[in-house]
Amino acid sequence: MTTTCSAPGKIYLFGEHAVVYGEPAIACAVELRTRVIAKKSNEITISSDIGTTKLDFDMHPYVSSAIRKLGSPDVFIEITSEIPVGSGLGSSAAVTIATLSAINIEFGLGYEKEELAKMGHEIEKEVQGAASPTDTFVSTFGGVVEIPSRKRLNLLDCDVVIGNTNKGASPKKTAKLVQQVARLKEEHPDIINPIIKTIGSFAKQGELMVSQKNYTSLGKLMNVNHGLLDALGVSTMELSALVYAARNAGAYGAKLTGAGGGGCMVALSDSPREVAEAIEKAGGRAIITRATPEGVIQI
Ligand code: PMV
Repeated sequence: MTTTCSAPGKIYLFGEHAVVYGEPAIACAVELRTRVIAKKSNEITISSDIGTTKLDFDMHPYVSSAIRKLGSPDVFIEITSEIPVGSGLGSSAAVTIATLSAINIEFGLGYEKEELAKMGHEIEKEVQGAASPTDTFVSTFGGVVEIPSRKRLNLLDCDVVIGNTNKGASPKKTAKLVQQVARLKEEHPDIINPIIKTIGSFAKQGELMVSQKNYTSLGKLMNVNHGLLDALGVSTMELSALVYAARNAGAYGAKLTGAGGGGCMVALSDSPREVAEAIEKAGGRAIITRATPEGVIQI
């Protein structure tokens, strides 16, 4: 028997960085997936684009940690992914959750999804030092979700266009940028604290707009959110160039997604090809995708 599971990546509509200080955020699973095949074997093997290894916490830290978390069964694991790595789209959460789920089914371990999400978050913390539960939660359950309440909102009906700067991709980037914002906050609390509070307030307003499917207003707020992330110092010239290109091509709104400092931006649009073309012209790699209600699934 073999078991194949896939788990989605995610974008933030609102609230990255502020969520670190307890403010609400809205994240959305997207139809870009990491697929993991698990097969009972007589040794542990992990095979991916990076290469083929045994348990290897340098080359395959998330998958090795997931195997160990489930008691180190002898398993052959093969990974393929559509999610750019270390670019703010939750690639590490997706591979972790898909691996946990595939091994869980292949070996009949009987864990519930809730438990897999919790293990996934623990693994992200072990590997990265710090991680919010957002990525692993959204990758497990899918949909548009308010954090930390976990309230599930309406699915987005419009297209989601992701623009990758192809710069600054690194799993360590998130920790560095979170520290950078923390320093700025310490230096200028009177100025930075209200910005963080304002970013938190987008989630409440955004929730209403998502439920009304009012993408014009939602997009405008995403634009304001991008401006405030820029004010926190986490945008880059390349990210903002892609954000402006997407807006000029008619997107409802566009902002960086995730930690920033490079990585990806996201735009909502009903004319995704025009927006994607503009992003490519501005030097980015565009991906047209959709929100997905589906978290980790067996395929
Ligand atoms: O770049 P990502 O997808 O890891 O997102 C980071 C989001 C932050 O709010 C900056 C940090 C966090 O753990 O929530």
